[in-house]
Amino acid sequence: MKWLSAKYAYPLVVVSVLASIILQVIWLQQLFNGQRSQAKQQIEQIVNNAARDNMYNSLKKLGLTDTLLTPFFKGAEWGLIRSGFDAVKAPHMYKSFEISDTNKDSTYVAFKFVFINPESDIKRRKPGQTSSDPYSPQADSVSIREMHALVTKGLAEMGLKKGFYYGLYAYNAATPKNGADTAAEYASAKYTYNMAYMHKYQLIIPSLERYIWYTMRYYILSVVLMLVLTCAAFYFIIRLMRNQRLYAEARVAFTSNMTHELKTPIATVSLALESITRYGLIHQPEKLEEYLSIGRQELQRLNLMIEKVLNLSREEEGAYPLNKVLFDVQTGLQDVVRSMELQLTNAGAVCRLQLSPEPCFVDGDPVHLTNVFYNLVENAIKYADRPLELEISCAAVNDRVILHVKDNGPGIDKLYHDKIFDRFFRVPAKGDTHDVKGSGLGLNYVKTIIEHHDGTVTLKSEPGKGSDFIINLPAAV
Ligand SMILES: Nc1ncnc2c1ncn2[C@@H]1O[C@H](COP(=O)(O)OP(=O)(O)OP(=O)(O)O)[C@@H](O)[C@H]1O
Ligand SMILES: [Mg+2]
Repeated sequence: MKWLSAKYAYPLVVVSVLASIILQVIWLQQLFNGQRSQAKQQIEQIVNNAARDNMYNSLKKLGLTDTLLTPFFKGAEWGLIRSGFDAVKAPHMYKSFEISDTNKDSTYVAFKFVFINPESDIKRRKPGQTSSDPYSPQADSVSIREMHALVTKGLAEMGLKKGFYYGLYAYNAATPKNGADTAAEYASAKYTYNMAYMHKYQLIIPSLERYIWYTMRYYILSVVLMLVLTCAAFYFIIRLMRNQRLYAEARVAFTSNMTHELKTPIATVSLALESITRYGLIHQPEKLEEYLSIGRQELQRLNLMIEKVLNLSREEEGAYPLNKVLFDVQTGLQDVVRSMELQLTNAGAVCRLQLSPEPCFVDGDPVHLTNVFYNLVENAIKYADRPLELEISCAAVNDRVILHVKDNGPGIDKLYHDKIFDRFFRVPAKGDTHDVKGSGLGLNYVKTIIEHHDGTVTLKSEPGKGSDFIINLPAAV
């Protein structure tokens, strides 16, 4: 898998995501077209059925009561006969349809084709001109409404509730007599819907687009969901890869830093001890005390370093032994500040320790908690970019003990507030190399220890405005 470095992985991910988006879009488009032609067929069938049913109803109104005729008028063959009859056209030819059940023994249904001799002087009567004309606008307006109601019902059943109207055509006319606009995405065939009137009905839908998208909503949802899931999966994999790379890089930096960090205290202690013997400091108690305190500090630093490294393996193993006792946080803080006095003075720092008159006891491991305080003070000294003013305070608030370690240092960008508690993480230096040495384990150690004490550690900081590390621990009861 070595060849699959980040160099290839990122473009590969981008290409895969783009390819899957394009494929999905093409698929959706094809589906859209398929759905559209299917919907058109379905609608056509609805109009056809409505015309058949409406015609059957109209025949009943003409006096057809014989149920024997129902299978005939409801059957598919009748549809063919009707459309064939509708379609026949010839010059000087007129059609009519009659149905009667006046005879008790039988019902007759008659299609008539009347051919008029063009030489004849009989003038063709126009519909509506005489009382014997079967055309009756009033009855037709009822019938067309019934026809449209049947279509509306059918369309509602398939989920299409609005956005359509009808065109009403005189028998041979090409333009609708009700003035309907026929420029539309879909217009059905023209159907006669009432044998007596010979008018034609056409369903018109200006746009089917919204309806089709609506019927495809679950497909679209699943496509979006799939794309989101794919992107999320890629995002997490890439983040994981990046973290692992950073982790590997940090481990390398850690090893070289560690060598330095371990060697320095050993060299300093050796030097201090050597100086004591060489210069016979046993006779100068003040100097001796100074050298001894340097030695003590360095050993404490060494000890802390070892603790941090040990902490690493403990964390990985999952076992975390703590020797919890009733621990006075304020005394712990005082001890740490006292033991770091020399470092603070050397750095020209002013340290204010604000203690609370109330006792601040926690149930904790004194060694680890002291290390935590030491780490925070050490960071404040290490990263100070001007004479350090350090404010350490402790207070008991509602069953909690709250500590602040606040400095006037360079501060930390919000971007890194969570990250600085990660193992090996160090805020990137302005230049290429870090002036201040460190392993990037200190704050991770702080967080682990505080969390093992059921507490939290948070940071309030802005670049240029110092940092305030806040530790919140449950008070001992
Ligand atoms: N008081 C502070 N002011 C400004 N930056 C800080 C402060 N404390 C920590 N940091 C930033 O957070 C990073 C992580 O700190 P952490 O203590 O975990 O590691 P370190 O000091 O680099 O190494 P170690 O403490 O293990 O020797 C540091 O590299 C530093 O950039
Ligand atoms: Mg540190």
